[in-house]
Amino acid sequence: MKILLFGRGGQVGWELQRSLSVLGELVALGSDASHNPDGLCGDFSHLPGLAETIRRVKPDVIVNAAAHTAVDKAEAEPERARALNALAPGVLAAEAQKLGAWLLHYSTDYVFDGSGQQAWREGDATGPLSVYGKTKLEGEHLVSACAKHLIFRTSWVYAARGGNFAKTMLRLAGERDTLTVIDDQIGAPTSAELLADVTAHALAKAMRAPELAGLYHCVAGGETSWYGYARYVLGQAQALGCQLKAGPDQVLPTATASYPTPARRPLNSRLDTLKLQAAFGLVLPPWQQGVARMLAETLN
Ligand SMILES: NC(=O)c1ccc[n+]([C@@H]2O[C@H](COP(=O)([O-])OP(=O)(O)OC[C@H]3O[C@@H](n4cnc5c(N)ncnc54)[C@H](OP(=O)(O)O)[C@@H]3O)[C@@H](O)[C@H]2O)c1
Repeated sequence: MKILLFGRGGQVGWELQRSLSVLGELVALGSDASHNPDGLCGDFSHLPGLAETIRRVKPDVIVNAAAHTAVDKAEAEPERARALNALAPGVLAAEAQKLGAWLLHYSTDYVFDGSGQQAWREGDATGPLSVYGKTKLEGEHLVSACAKHLIFRTSWVYAARGGNFAKTMLRLAGERDTLTVIDDQIGAPTSAELLADVTAHALAKAMRAPELAGLYHCVAGGETSWYGYARYVLGQAQALGCQLKAGPDQVLPTATASYPTPARRPLNSRLDTLKLQAAFGLVLPPWQQGVARMLAETLN
């Protein structure tokens, strides 16, 4: 089996290079062709190059971890966000459909308007508040034109590699006496590791059961706010022996309204994962498990 991965250098893409390697021959591409094998194109702003690359590689599976993920920046460059989040995935879908290949793609909690308190289910009405959310939603529609598609909506992704919210909190807690963090956006921090592992498992199962094609919510178990997340991170860091100026009790809650950003973010980012767990026979561990693991790796 041949797997073509786009976005190999991102948080999820990096972990996919590990998890997908046991399924078959993996061709992993980034946006810079000079670092890709055989000069293959992985640049989502070059649509003919993407189509040509897929025709040359002839994959059985395409996994797309590339996206325009800079949520605030997207407000200022909607055309670029649309090209990367919608039009390029649309090209992947059209080419995958011609080959009879599977296409696995990631989407986001930002397709919802964040109203209410209930966890969103896959069939619930969408209502994106931002350019990022709108372009990701259009991407979902275009990807679903490929019959054998899997779309995983996820939220609050972090990884040990590169920068992340937890590392920012640790840095600030080393410098400041108090931290003020938003407490009215609710979601589940989800590790790139978990997403990559679920992806490999789901693909292996879907290839034997094509009726599993569709849209799924894929996040770690439980829920928290950014405030709760920050408190957990600082508590764990202290337990691991980290000296901080600000501990969990020096984290102060604030409302989204007091922290304006170019892009509006949903308050309710809870995603119901029962469909994914039932379809693929999976358990999604509590979010604290992955965060604790990432902190242990990072701080040691
Ligand atoms: N991060 C989150 O909190 C979050 C939340 C919900 C859903 N998601 C979704 O999860 C997926 C993976 O996100 P992530 O957190 O792993 O993202 P990330 O770390 O920001 O990585 C994004 C990837 O997109 C690539 N990319 C950017 N511009 C590109 C271009 N012109 N052509 C090709 N590739 C380009 C980057 O590659 P280069 O560095 O080579 O340019 C990078 O590998 C995305 O679909 C995202 O929308 C993420």
